[in-house]
Amino acid sequence: MQTSTTAPLQASEETSLSANRAATVVAVAGATGTIGQAALKRLAERGYHPVALPRDPQSLPAGCSAVISCMASRTGLAEDAWRVDHQAQSKLLSLARQQGVDQFVLLSAICVQKPHLPFQKAKLAFEAELRASGLRYCIVRPTAFFKSLAGQLKRVLAGKPFLVFGDGQLTRCKPISDEDLADYLIDCLSHADRVNQILPIGGPGPALSPLDQVHLLEGLLGHRVRIKSVPVGLLRSIAGLLSVAGWFSKAARDKAELARIGLYYATESMLVWDESAGAYSESLTPETGQQRLADFYASVIRGETRVDLGAHAVFKD
Ligand SMILES: NC(=O)c1ccc[n+]([C@@H]2O[C@H](COP(=O)([O-])OP(=O)(O)OC[C@H]3O[C@@H](n4cnc5c(N)ncnc54)[C@H](OP(=O)(O)O)[C@@H]3O)[C@@H](O)[C@H]2O)c1
Repeated sequence: MQTSTTAPLQASEETSLSANRAATVVAVAGATGTIGQAALKRLAERGYHPVALPRDPQSLPAGCSAVISCMASRTGLAEDAWRVDHQAQSKLLSLARQQGVDQFVLLSAICVQKPHLPFQKAKLAFEAELRASGLRYCIVRPTAFFKSLAGQLKRVLAGKPFLVFGDGQLTRCKPISDEDLADYLIDCLSHADRVNQILPIGGPGPALSPLDQVHLLEGLLGHRVRIKSVPVGLLRSIAGLLSVAGWFSKAARDKAELARIGLYYATESMLVWDESAGAYSESLTPETGQQRLADFYASVIRGETRVDLGAHAVFKD
């Protein structure tokens, strides 16, 4: 599914940014984050001229043709999300307009298609600003990152059970690697048919449920993996109790919000929502890249890849 308010360019049209990569200055916001770092590295490897922006840039680099923004609140809490996912992005967009950049590529998230949480609303508010800005835009809404699932691997390798909600089949996603997502963001600079589009994107399929991930791990480890099932009702009750406590304490309010974020990911798939079917759709969720979760897990098990969970991890050890 690709949605837009403005007509895309024809696929045959070349974007001006694809002509001379070495002369194409691409500013990367959120360059210290997981995807920002991957974007910087791949831009350089692919012959572009990437520039990492500082946290609160006052201007963009001279000759800047495009911005790739991977900036995001590290907590997902309401205040932080409105400050970063909306205000800081908005300020960056103003700079981009003032300095006449050609294109703005935004890293968003697939979960904004069903916005229940404050951080999703903050992201959507900025997406709307970007769409109305008159600048060429690409809004990339990826599914789950490897790092968000890898906390489970760390738990299992430490002898702990794999945590699932309900029967482990409530949700599914098409996990995407940092490099494949970075390449997809960068390809937006040269793929004319992605301009002025909202682009949901997953890694190479099939879609995996948490139980599928357990089976995948069992295959790699050669033994059974213990599972601990957490009833969704328990998570819902915890979120409810913390919400009440939140009337009296900011710390409890924050915990309640984190519990609601956890509940969302425990019950909503990271796939395109098919409005007509009233269900998430694996077939409507586009795929990109080559790297599969199984290869990533295998490489972690062999000790070749370190798992950096970051602040967005759902399952820490
Ligand atoms: N995790 C997933 O599975 C998943 C799936 C789909 C979409 N997403 C989306 O992907 C994004 C997260 O990507 P990521 O994991 O690469 O992020 P990340 O590692 O948490 O990095 C966030 C970046 O934003 C910067 N930042 C934070 N606060 C800032 C501020 N006030 N001003 C300027 N910059 C600020 C950080 O800078 P500092 O280093 O200075 O803090 C860092 O560079 C989010 O939009 C998320 O919704 C995530």
